[in-house]
Amino acid sequence: MKVLLVGSGGREHAMAWKLAQSTRISELFIAPGNAGTAELGTNVDIGVSDHIALVKYAENHKIDLVVVAPDKPIVDGLCDQLRHAGITTFGPSSAAARVEGSKIWSNDLMTKYRIPTAESVAFNISGLAMEYGRSKPEGSLVVKADGLAAGKGVILPETYDELDSAIVGMLDHGAFGKSSSSILLAERMTGPETSVFAFVDGEHVSAEIATCDYKRAGEGDLGLNTGGMGSYGPPEFWTAELAAKVRCEILEPTARALVKEYSSFSGVLYAGLMITKSGPKVVEFNCRFGDPETQILMPMLESDLLDVCLAVAENRLDGTDVRWSNEPHTFVVAVSDGYPGSYSTGFEITGISAATEYGVVFHAGTARDLNNNLVTSGGRVLGVVASGSTISKSRNAAYTGIEHIFFEGMRFRRDIAERAIHGRS
Ligand code: AMP
Ligand code: GLY
Repeated sequence: MKVLLVGSGGREHAMAWKLAQSTRISELFIAPGNAGTAELGTNVDIGVSDHIALVKYAENHKIDLVVVAPDKPIVDGLCDQLRHAGITTFGPSSAAARVEGSKIWSNDLMTKYRIPTAESVAFNISGLAMEYGRSKPEGSLVVKADGLAAGKGVILPETYDELDSAIVGMLDHGAFGKSSSSILLAERMTGPETSVFAFVDGEHVSAEIATCDYKRAGEGDLGLNTGGMGSYGPPEFWTAELAAKVRCEILEPTARALVKEYSSFSGVLYAGLMITKSGPKVVEFNCRFGDPETQILMPMLESDLLDVCLAVAENRLDGTDVRWSNEPHTFVVAVSDGYPGSYSTGFEITGISAATEYGVVFHAGTARDLNNNLVTSGGRVLGVVASGSTISKSRNAAYTGIEHIFFEGMRFRRDIAERAIHGRS
């Protein structure tokens, strides 16, 4: 079979790595891919926003399955366009992708179907939003842009002044363009967070898997928000009882609600949850795999990724075996100096083969220079994932692996998965 994977980050390298293990794949194409995916298949120089070129490429090359990984093309309807052209596609319709593409739509869905989440109110007039803000205790609300904002659309103000400036910034000054022309003011929840993933095809929900990611740039969860500095799983607080509750109260009712709303979901549903004192609640839904969670999910997936993606794409997930390993995994990301602010690229990367003695290296912002040397080309450059019989062993292996890698200005967080060993910070 010929498969085209759309995307270019670490998530896509991990998915390409897993797809390449399927004996049924004759050719794997990645658009646009990175230097890591180039070692597993053929990179195709088409950007993820060029939907017309992607559909044409799939038609001309008689692609049997397209797997769309990133949020933006899914929300913008790439999967609908591919299906319209008769191409078998893994990924939800733009209607179903509203669970991620519009936080207001998603919140309305959860409210209507009684899926546990933060109490939230939508606004598009700053004066009314600020008035509502003052009616709640200081520091008790979260401000969320309605649309996609590259992971930056959530602000957690501590004071009324910070709350007002977040509201005005989004609604009146277009902090995130059209994405923040409407906002949600949500009750601020507390508790450990986890990212839970399941394949969904209509009302059918596969076995689920839980992980934790790290969004802040610095140790101790300090510093700016990033695309993700690392992940581990399964979480230390993830019990069979909690998994059953999340399945019965969140995953299955959400799949059924989407069918009822004529927005049947087909793909992988990612529920960002907070485990509050009154039980698990949804922080946000995403319509795709997470990054950097996928870099541990792919090594943990015991089933063949191609089989599962095809089953979802052909509406026969029911009866398809989806199995996840329980073995602890840790993934540590190395970033360029300055990230998530501005940074330089083009630095040579060495030590990858030594690192692979300890784990798997997934590339994100990497490229080949004119002399075919591996060089940095992005903020998040690469990462090392390792497994172990305990979380501590997987963590030691991932860190030993990454210590073998070098590029100028390389930086990584030293506390990934630490709380799973030493208790929560
Ligand atoms: P999101 O983009 O919705 O994942 O939000 C980014 C981060 O903001 C989440 O991972 C949470 O840490 C935090 N967050 C979002 N919504 C809430 C909420 N209602 N209460 C507390 N924290 C939140
Ligand atoms: N792990 C965060 C995301 O993929 O959006």
